[in-house]
Amino acid sequence: MELKGQSFEGLVERAAGLIVAAKRVVAFTGAGVSTESGIPDFRSPGGIWSKYDPEDFTIQSFVRRPDTRLRVWQMLAESGLSARAQPNAAHYAIAELERMGKLTCVITQNVDNLHQIAGSSPDRVFELHGNMQWARCLDCEKRYPMEEIAEKARAGPEAPLCTVCGGMLKPDAVFFGETLPSEALMKATSYSRNCDVFIVIGSTLVVYPAALMPQYAREAGAKLVIVNLSSTPMDHQASVLLRSKAGESMSRIAESVKAKLGR
Ligand code: APR
Ligand code: ZN
Repeated sequence: MELKGQSFEGLVERAAGLIVAAKRVVAFTGAGVSTESGIPDFRSPGGIWSKYDPEDFTIQSFVRRPDTRLRVWQMLAESGLSARAQPNAAHYAIAELERMGKLTCVITQNVDNLHQIAGSSPDRVFELHGNMQWARCLDCEKRYPMEEIAEKARAGPEAPLCTVCGGMLKPDAVFFGETLPSEALMKATSYSRNCDVFIVIGSTLVVYPAALMPQYAREAGAKLVIVNLSSTPMDHQASVLLRSKAGESMSRIAESVKAKLGR
């Protein structure tokens, strides 16, 4: 594929060259890194927000309206966010870069835990929007494994409740209107401000404060690599722009880094 006068292979080689020459590389992922695992993204045609109302995913609606709560639980249960989705080639390639010592951390907006399952070190994965592996009681804070709750949500007829105090259960994912987990945000900000290559994979870069991370990296003088099927507001700042699938692109980049390192 021809992009900016460069072939796909040429762009892969340029991205790999930047990564090999870099000291501190950060990967930043969005829902587009998991679509090849069967989890729909949010803003592509047919994505989550074309089927569900984002308004239902504000913490206010979730707490105030029982019908909204049930709909949210059923969407999460049916859309595979809590199902046993498997990592795809992009997740494995990102974990491989870490193993080769060419990735400092992964900052992700995803809640599907696929980076950790693919082998990225959990202490180097910063989940800005929380994680769907657990649900928490909003009254007594008791935590439940999501698998246990998803079954109840699928069955209905009402949203699952805490078995200890009868309180409202909420997934550990961050809803619109909620603050992001402070430690993950602090670490993501620090690593973004201290890297020399920042790779965006599968994100529209339209949701804040997550979308500040690539801007912090650019302000720190880092080179930007973007792997995304559609355009983003930062495309013009990318040293390498790959309008191609995450799985194939990241696999080819990891292979090229390995060859350049003589591994
Ligand atoms: N390979 C490369 N890019 C892909 C692929 C793929 N296989 N599949 C989808 N994409 C691209 C899409 O073109 C789109 O630009 O990934 C991007 C996904 O963007 P969004 O759906 O907006 O997802 P994301 O950027 O992660 O959204 C951020 O918004 O709704 C909230 O909390 C939610 O974390 C989410 C946040
Ligand atoms: Zn409780």
